[in-house]
Amino acid sequence: MADRTPIISCRNVTKRFGEQVVLHNFNLDIYPGETMVIMGGSGSGKSTCLRLMIGSLRPEEGEIWMFGQNLTSLDEREMNEARKKFGILFQSGALFNSMTVAENVALPLEEHTDLDPEIIDIQVKIKLELVGLREAAEKLPGMLSGGMKKRAGLARALALDPRILFYDEPSAGLDPVTSAQIDQLIMNMSRHLGVTSIVVTHEMDSAFTIADRMAMLDKGRILKVESREWYERLRDMPKDRAGDLTTDEQLIRQFLRGEAEGPFTNRKDGQGLATALFGSDSTTRAR
Ligand SMILES: Nc1ncnc2c1ncn2[C@@H]1O[C@H](COP(=O)(O)OP(=O)(O)O)[C@@H](O)[C@H]1O
Ligand SMILES: [Mg+2]
Repeated sequence: MADRTPIISCRNVTKRFGEQVVLHNFNLDIYPGETMVIMGGSGSGKSTCLRLMIGSLRPEEGEIWMFGQNLTSLDEREMNEARKKFGILFQSGALFNSMTVAENVALPLEEHTDLDPEIIDIQVKIKLELVGLREAAEKLPGMLSGGMKKRAGLARALALDPRILFYDEPSAGLDPVTSAQIDQLIMNMSRHLGVTSIVVTHEMDSAFTIADRMAMLDKGRILKVESREWYERLRDMPKDRAGDLTTDEQLIRQFLRGEAEGPFTNRKDGQGLATALFGSDSTTRAR
């Protein structure tokens, strides 16, 4: 990466909900063009981290910089201006069901630009082409498969040619083949459009496919921000050498390998791997 000025910089950020500290004093720099995967178990704070970076939540402490602007100091109007520079793909695709796919994709262009309808039409076609949905332009979201909804959501997120794309669990609820297709699409966006991607996921196959760098979150703490290769080495390290690892590294290794036994499971707080992976409501499921 030639440009080492971060496009996003989280500095000493702490987020609380009431008494609960959901993210503890974390630092995270994201560089132009890279794909950063934020992973961690359910409830570890991944979505909160994302919502802080898109300015839909404000931290109690610390600063979040994007494009050299301190998001935490912007008023609502300035924040709306900043929002035009990034796209977000939410879990469901968050489409309007009464509007066609093309109308959904046109919406940000109609709201935020003064472009003529013919130009908007062309833009919409280009975006749908990018995600392989040209033929679905006139369909209603209700007629689409899960994967197609995600594609449509992505086309809409691309409408204003953002430099940054945020994805929250992009492959959640998709079958393995569709989920692999979404991974390819995410990679195409960064390769062909040069966008910076921040992807939140707990699916390790997907994480290792798309990431340049990875950040492991555990209970609101970022344990490590390292290259994908670093994480691959940790995952593939033989068990007889794993004893030399720090507790955090052992914990990450267990998470990456999806193993039932290890520091993740043997924690004093009584929460096991099931809780870490599926959330605190899952004890019955895991039994
Ligand atoms: N709006 C909110 N109000 C109160 N607590 C919240 C809110 N959003 C998230 N939390 C809590 O913050 C923690 C982290 O949640 P979240 O960021 O959604 O985790 P993840 O996306 O990793 O599953 C959880 O304990 C969750 O219950
Ligand atoms: Mg989440």
